[in-house]
Amino acid sequence: MKIGILKEAAGENRVAMLPDGVKSLADLKVSVMVEKQAGAGASIPDDLFREAGAEIASRADVIKGSDVIIMVSGPDASDVKKLGKGKVMVAGVNPLVNHDLVKAYADAEVTLFSMDVIPRTTRAQAMDILSSQATVAGYKAVIDAANRLPGFLQMFMSAAGTIKPSKLLVLGAGVAGLQAIATARKLGAVVEAFDVRSAVKEEVKSLGAKFIEVEGARDDASAGGYAVEQTEEFKEKQKQMVYDHCAKSDVVICTAQIPGRKAPLLVTKEAVKAMSPGSVVIDLAASSGGNCELTQNNKVVVEHDVTIVGESNYPSTMPQDASQMFGKNLLTFLKLIIDEEGKLNLNWEDELVSETVVTHEKEIKNERVKEFMNQ
Ligand code: NAI
Repeated sequence: MKIGILKEAAGENRVAMLPDGVKSLADLKVSVMVEKQAGAGASIPDDLFREAGAEIASRADVIKGSDVIIMVSGPDASDVKKLGKGKVMVAGVNPLVNHDLVKAYADAEVTLFSMDVIPRTTRAQAMDILSSQATVAGYKAVIDAANRLPGFLQMFMSAAGTIKPSKLLVLGAGVAGLQAIATARKLGAVVEAFDVRSAVKEEVKSLGAKFIEVEGARDDASAGGYAVEQTEEFKEKQKQMVYDHCAKSDVVICTAQIPGRKAPLLVTKEAVKAMSPGSVVIDLAASSGGNCELTQNNKVVVEHDVTIVGESNYPSTMPQDASQMFGKNLLTFLKLIIDEEGKLNLNWEDELVSETVVTHEKEIKNERVKEFMNQ
């Protein structure tokens, strides 16, 4: 069997797998084709893929020659039919939101595994692209904020006086939020964090940050580690709390989300106005509407002397390590769908296979995706 790696669309620097991962694919008894210049955005020359055992070819030849194609985000809806009936695509296409794309895969009769809907279970951890890429984003959000701040993050005591450490507020303490807390603490900031799930309180505290609590949060243990929609009364209390804490913070990192839904609005324009001039808001939820009212997706804006960053693809700004982690997630998943002889074996009895598939033959198979499409 052949696995193909295609170059991503312009603006995406990651590649689905680095040469190290390609070498590991040989252990699965499969051969690999890589589109010319697929690693260019991550500064990986074709020769390194060649040395790892891959054949370098044109896009059309990779598509024609491979049985399974792996990508970071996959092609646009208009290009999906070029993949051809019966192919298997493994990528992260955000199917809870991109419904036309899902329909395009079903119409083209391409089997799509979207790694961003893999269940968040212990066994799936090594395949969880949302977690690995959110880790990158949480780290880079803090580095970006530090870069834009007009001062230090850490405390400074020198002959020129004492500089107070910056105060950083993290909204949402999931994967990205916890990584942001850890990074900010290492850089010496004073960190506070807020999440509607009280289960994260101990983790937040163990990273050296203060956990802010707002009473009355709906916390549903059956939601698989995700947050659930909150009551209007709670949202009002939360807005006031966020306002008070924004006013005291130099940096706010927004990471709150409920999968497939518009991001909850936490930082109002009044809260931004209350921040000190020169403060920074990094809104990781920019692509789903933002946690901050003034965020513009993929733009940096300055309002009331506060810089608000709506970068929606930080992993692409650290393409080597982000691709390394992404490729490792994919490699672990591929082991589930490739048998000992290197042949494709789709075992629908395995929940990680049956819950990650989005389309197969003409059908949309994924129940969660169907639910979101019917809303
Ligand atoms: P996650 O699901 O692990 O964490 C989100 C956290 O937000 C959860 O702990 C949840 O309880 C919390 N939350 C939900 N509603 C809340 C509310 N009203 N108030 C406070 N907390 C609330 O998600 P993950 O993987 O950490 O991703 C976070 C965000 O970052 C997502 O929006 C994701 O799309 C985005 N992201 C952005 C990237 C970028 O480059 N901009 C890259 C990767 C992820």
